[in-house]
Amino acid sequence: MATRFLILSLLISCHVVTSTRPQDQDTGFVGSPDLKKLGLKKKDKVSHFRLFFHESFTANNATTVTVVPPLAKYNSTTSFGMMGVMDNALTAGPERSSKVVGKVEGLIAATSQSEFNLLVVLSFVLTEGKYNGSTITVLGRNRIMQSLREVPVIGGTGMFRFATGYAEVNTVLLEPQVRSTVEYNIYVSHY
Ligand SMILES: *[C@@H]1O[C@H](CO)[C@@H](O)[C@H](O)[C@H]1NC(C)=O
Ligand SMILES: *[C@@H]1O[C@H](CO)[C@@H](O)[C@H](O)[C@H]1NC(C)=O
Ligand SMILES: *[C@@H]1O[C@H](CO)[C@@H](O)[C@H](O)[C@H]1NC(C)=O
Repeated sequence: MATRFLILSLLISCHVVTSTRPQDQDTGFVGSPDLKKLGLKKKDKVSHFRLFFHESFTANNATTVTVVPPLAKYNSTTSFGMMGVMDNALTAGPERSSKVVGKVEGLIAATSQSEFNLLVVLSFVLTEGKYNGSTITVLGRNRIMQSLREVPVIGGTGMFRFATGYAEVNTVLLEPQVRSTVEYNIYVSHY
């Protein structure tokens, strides 16, 4: 039964894939751009960035701050309703003293009533070499109680126009209420 369903879904998905291309041409709102005219090459490059950001939670020099505290009437173990912002240094190595290669500005919100999950909206702003001034945008669900989690890369600017990809995230240091260091392995397909 399951196999039959799988075959059926494959047939349906093949049908959809083969039949949408010709329709693309005459919808009037989607087409294939002349990449050369736009100054773009065929997108085939995938880069891997290994970056670390460093949070400080201490009152006088916090770089990640809570803007809206968790709402008391909801499940307090999940911090549901909490919102915060961050502006943290990005380094090439795991130490806070490692070479600074940019920063990450972002918005975080606790959006689950059953787990401590965050919705994260992060701009990785790079300041090194040819990437100076370019940004990578990460947006998605971050299951921060998992040791390794995955979040989507949904776009970027500069070197990362039309970027897509994903990031593998793990926390390498956590001193609650004091500081943390988070590792981002970003795999990004771009021009
Ligand atoms: C923040 O302040 C605390 C105590 O005032 C200090 O121990 C810590 O090193 C500071 N962190 C940063 C990143 O400046
Ligand atoms: C509250 O969260 C905890 C752990 O995250 C979970 O076990 C529990 O079921 C949640 N309670 C409710 C009412 O959702
Ligand atoms: C990055 O660009 C800014 C502004 O154009 C410039 O001031 C800065 O020196 C550059 N940084 C590096 C590391 O090249």
